[in-house]
Amino acid sequence: MNTKQKILAYMREHQQIISGEKLANELQVSRTAIWKAIRELEKSGYHFDHLANGYRLLPSDLIEPALISNPYLTEEMIFYRASTVSTMQDAKTAAINNQLKQGLFIADEQTQGHGRFGRQFFSPNGQIYMSLLLSPNQHFQELPQYTLLSAVAVASAIDQLVGEKTTIKWVNDIFINQKKVCGILTEAISDFESQRISHVIIGIGINFFIEQEKFPEDLRQKVTALFHQQPTITRNELIRLIWQNFFELCAALPDTHYLEYYRQKSFVLGKKVSFQQNGQTISGKAKAITDNGELVVETPTQTYYLSSGEISLEKIED
Ligand code: BTN
Repeated sequence: MNTKQKILAYMREHQQIISGEKLANELQVSRTAIWKAIRELEKSGYHFDHLANGYRLLPSDLIEPALISNPYLTEEMIFYRASTVSTMQDAKTAAINNQLKQGLFIADEQTQGHGRFGRQFFSPNGQIYMSLLLSPNQHFQELPQYTLLSAVAVASAIDQLVGEKTTIKWVNDIFINQKKVCGILTEAISDFESQRISHVIIGIGINFFIEQEKFPEDLRQKVTALFHQQPTITRNELIRLIWQNFFELCAALPDTHYLEYYRQKSFVLGKKVSFQQNGQTISGKAKAITDNGELVVETPTQTYYLSSGEISLEKIED
């Protein structure tokens, strides 16, 4: 740990006013080093009270690997950048270069964030953009339902920490009050020789704190954020709980309770839905979600099993 990290760790542990002298003694560095480190921390976004009797660490909302890590995802596996093209790209580059087997890539903003079917994902500064890299080395059919697992992990973390009631739009959009607050994208890299999936990348984008008017006009009626005013939680807390939920659900497999939770949260089931297939619009009733994550849609003439990778729902009506 460098001096800045030591200061943060010490001040978080001792939630009180601490003089520069005491910090210097405890961390065994000079007072000038403490003063310089605090100034640098402030430049990078941390807030301190400067009082007559010392410093006090104030809350800030910077992404910090140390506050996100959990037993499944250690601090060394978490990579944060203020700005990036796309965290999907960051994870993919690490996978292709064989840099690591598991890691979480996080950014404050993305210049080319994207969603399913190559759609643009609005990614302004200060929200949550992250991609988890996994190396399952399994055949496609053997893979856990990562897409559904991650939706459950996000929805339950938001309900618990933010106190909002989320719903899930099949397959992987999280909604609050009928507006999208989070999108999830799962991509896989296969190994040609072994015919196995070498890597899976799960990308999650959450509108965390943004005023409704700041969304582009064409999105404003369709999307929302967790907070429109001062958040009551930090991004670190939410990110930490999401991945803790996710890894706990994975560890509990083949337990399939998460599927029941997913179905309960789904606002698509029982509704009339429309989708495109071979250039045709098909409408029918969403009847069920299979254990493989397919949406079962019945029309008067046929039953369709829609796979998440191929179909995006267009209209959903009561
Ligand atoms: C969708 O709505 O279709 C999925 C959106 C996924 C967005 C996330 S943000 C983090 C990661 N990086 C990206 O470019 N996309 C995913």
